[in-house]
Amino acid sequence: MPVKPRPLAFPRNFVWGFAAAAPQIEGAAFADGKGPSIWDHFARQPGRVRNGDTLDVACDHYARFREDFKLMRELGARHYRLSIAWPRIFPQGDGAVNRQGLDFYHRLFDAMLEEGLTPWVTMFHWDLPQALEDRFGGWRDRRVADAFATYVDTLVRAYGDRVKNWITLNEIFCFTTLGYGTGAKAPGLKLPDAVVNRTYHHALLCHGHGVRAVREHGGRGARVGLTDNSSIGVPVTETEDDIAAARAHFAATNPRTLDPIYRGRYAASYLRAAGKDAPRVAKGDFALISLPTDFLGLNIYTGSFVRAPARGRAKFEVLPFPPSYPQADAHWLKILPQSIYWGPRLATEVYGVKAVYITENGCGYDDAPPVNGEVLDLHRRDLLRNCLGELRRAATDGVPVKGYFLWSLMDNFEWEDGYERRFGAVYCDFKTQRRTPKLSARWYREVVTRNRLV
Ligand code: FCB
Repeated sequence: MPVKPRPLAFPRNFVWGFAAAAPQIEGAAFADGKGPSIWDHFARQPGRVRNGDTLDVACDHYARFREDFKLMRELGARHYRLSIAWPRIFPQGDGAVNRQGLDFYHRLFDAMLEEGLTPWVTMFHWDLPQALEDRFGGWRDRRVADAFATYVDTLVRAYGDRVKNWITLNEIFCFTTLGYGTGAKAPGLKLPDAVVNRTYHHALLCHGHGVRAVREHGGRGARVGLTDNSSIGVPVTETEDDIAAARAHFAATNPRTLDPIYRGRYAASYLRAAGKDAPRVAKGDFALISLPTDFLGLNIYTGSFVRAPARGRAKFEVLPFPPSYPQADAHWLKILPQSIYWGPRLATEVYGVKAVYITENGCGYDDAPPVNGEVLDLHRRDLLRNCLGELRRAATDGVPVKGYFLWSLMDNFEWEDGYERRFGAVYCDFKTQRRTPKLSARWYREVVTRNRLV
């Protein structure tokens, strides 16, 4: 009997795109009046970034954006998530606007629209102006929110006629806890919890200002949301008890960011745990932070396994990964495609989120250079297919997943891992700036253009 497989289709109007961020691809780190960011500064400190790599040139996207947009279209995408470099617009963080910086993104958005690409703009993807770090300690000081308010008002006023999809901040956890707590990321400080909690609160205020700016100046059809890297527990067995454990895990691990935004307050559990280290909250803060958003962006690369504990009062148990559990070359990336099903589902169930976009998903492998024009990244192709299968399952189950952005168009500056960890669907030769689509890019193109798994 001939087998007649049913197409593994995605919902109509599903948004497919690529994601990237200014500091990771633009280069031109000191060109045309741009001020240094905390990452430009951090990368110059010995031992901070693998191989001493800097962001100075990166993918030279600053000069090559037109050809990169062409490439994106050839690969089937109609949407592109990018970020704007704050220190390009305000080299000092606030004060005088840098016209040349502003003009660069005018040209960039015009070129995108000419190419038929819809912009999704992240206002902040970790490149804080170094001037603010020097002046008052960056995220540690509440004045960062005033500077950010001016910055985002400027962005939305300038680009709101062409940009209708806005993302306020990318992964608060990474630029607060990892920047000021563990020190793995810029500015590389190891400060006590009381300080980290403060950086979080200031980040939440900035998110609120991003939403406010879009509502005030965004014009018709403008939409806005946060991108979070929520911690996701995957139930070991999909049975009631383990699913309840996964839900309890989601509710217990994400309230520092999601409670203020979705519930307009800090969770009692968070305040209890923080004790005297809790951040100072001023009148009106939560009204700003909890302004309604239009969607939640989730960056999902990995997760952890959870189950219902056999005994005791705990509501969930997180299982350790055995040493030989599969992982990408980026060591933190344990391979767990079901996270992309459970993340959106749990965000919907726990916080009542109405629309979810996967604003990043992908994997870092140290791909070898092209041979006969090909990079056979079958590991990436396989992981992406498994992830998209899980995303489709979410859509089929009625979880409101609306779109997917592959991280990333091309290999780029992977923060403290420098240029070694390649996340691109397109191989970038950083010496010649030659771009070569990998096998996964060709595969993704078929998915995107057919709106189904292939
Ligand atoms: C995420 C970041 C993104 C990229 C990927 C691999 O945490 O948002 O910039 O580096 O990881």
